[in-house]
Amino acid sequence: MVQFDSALLYLALSALFSGVFIYKLIKNKVKIENASVCSLLSLFMLGIVCLYVVSGRFGLTLFIGACVLYYISIPVRQMLSTQGKAVLITGCDSGLGHALAKHLDERGVLVFAGVLDKDGPGALELSRVCSSKLSLVQLDVTNSSEIKTVYDEVKSRVQDAGLWGIVHNAGVLGYVADGELLPISVYKQCMDVNFIGAVEVTKMLMPLLRKSKGRLVTISSMAGHTPIPGFAPYAASKAALSMFSAVMRQDLLKWGVKVAAIHPSGFKTNIFGSQEHWSSQDQNILDNIMPEVKDDYGEDYLATLKDLHHQMFTFSSSDLSPVLEDVCHALLSTNPYSSYTPGTCAYLIPCLFRYFPLWVYDNFAKLTFHIHRNILPRSLRISQTHSKAD
Ligand SMILES: NC(=O)c1ccc[n+]([C@@H]2O[C@H](COP(=O)([O-])OP(=O)(O)OC[C@H]3O[C@@H](n4cnc5c(N)ncnc54)[C@H](OP(=O)(O)O)[C@@H]3O)[C@@H](O)[C@H]2O)c1
Repeated sequence: MVQFDSALLYLALSALFSGVFIYKLIKNKVKIENASVCSLLSLFMLGIVCLYVVSGRFGLTLFIGACVLYYISIPVRQMLSTQGKAVLITGCDSGLGHALAKHLDERGVLVFAGVLDKDGPGALELSRVCSSKLSLVQLDVTNSSEIKTVYDEVKSRVQDAGLWGIVHNAGVLGYVADGELLPISVYKQCMDVNFIGAVEVTKMLMPLLRKSKGRLVTISSMAGHTPIPGFAPYAASKAALSMFSAVMRQDLLKWGVKVAAIHPSGFKTNIFGSQEHWSSQDQNILDNIMPEVKDDYGEDYLATLKDLHHQMFTFSSSDLSPVLEDVCHALLSTNPYSSYTPGTCAYLIPCLFRYFPLWVYDNFAKLTFHIHRNILPRSLRISQTHSKAD
């Protein structure tokens, strides 16, 4: 029988250590996903085992030792100076890349802002608003000769210091619809821009990054590790990108280069496209599907597709700062994480997929992502009506 005194002692120690942990976690702005929740739960279980099974002095020492180890493992937030650090960001014409270029420029980083159109409104705004240290570079990540030109430009500018960071931000969503309906061109475009483009930029600029023992940061997506209905091309390309980042992290350990992947949820940017884009994509689908597929799904079902983009845009956040903060942490912290999950539920939704039965996640996804909740494909509606009549 465990003595009342021992139980009280364990309770007091747990309260004391909890306070100390929470203080250090908050002080260092450690988010729940980086707080090693599993270790905390294991610690709790260990406390019970030490009290009831091991007991005595040995049990107490084991429990205190484990608590001290957990405390030491909480990362301390320490940022490096931006002085002399050069970072290349792809896709700075709009959205997250554009905001990040401004943010890093303000913090004193030497930014190479890759843009698709050097004379476009996004590029013009960057040169108007940012410091003279920011360089605009023409960079379509699917164009090998532009990547080589950027390499030459960056190399001549940074010289022996090397390039501190690459942020793979350029990306396209293509279109959101059932995977069967989407044209193969959308799959190819997503793969080319979101995955192959990032790989080619990495391969070309890596010698400059190895020189500085810098940082490789990839903006993937929550869809890159959690299946979201309607996102087949985009999610597949982001999954490839996330895995590329994970393997590169291991490959580059020996060079002292640190690698991180960012998996944001929804943010209001140009990625969801415009009314004209949706109309042309609708037409693209109608022009490319076989007549029997068109017949099975029905034109009224196809007509609801563009509502999805509008719904996604509405539910996204207009505050881009969580992504900017996480990219800055990945680039400038002395202890960057290998994965970041900025945005609403960007950590919780993947947990639901990974740790719960699949039917729980499937029902959650059906309700949450609003993919054709109100309408079924035509032939399914017909068969449902027939079975009700029978
Ligand atoms: N917004 C979100 O909710 C969200 C969520 C998860 C992940 N992400 C990821 O975050 C990254 C930034 O997206 P965003 O939301 O900021 O969307 P965005 O506003 O559309 O920005 C994407 C940028 O990439 C550029 N781009 C497109 N194709 C390119 C190419 N071949 N070469 C170089 N640049 C190219 C775009 O140029 P144009 O403007 O000229 O097309 C644009 O500047 C993407 O990788 C995206 O997948 C976004």
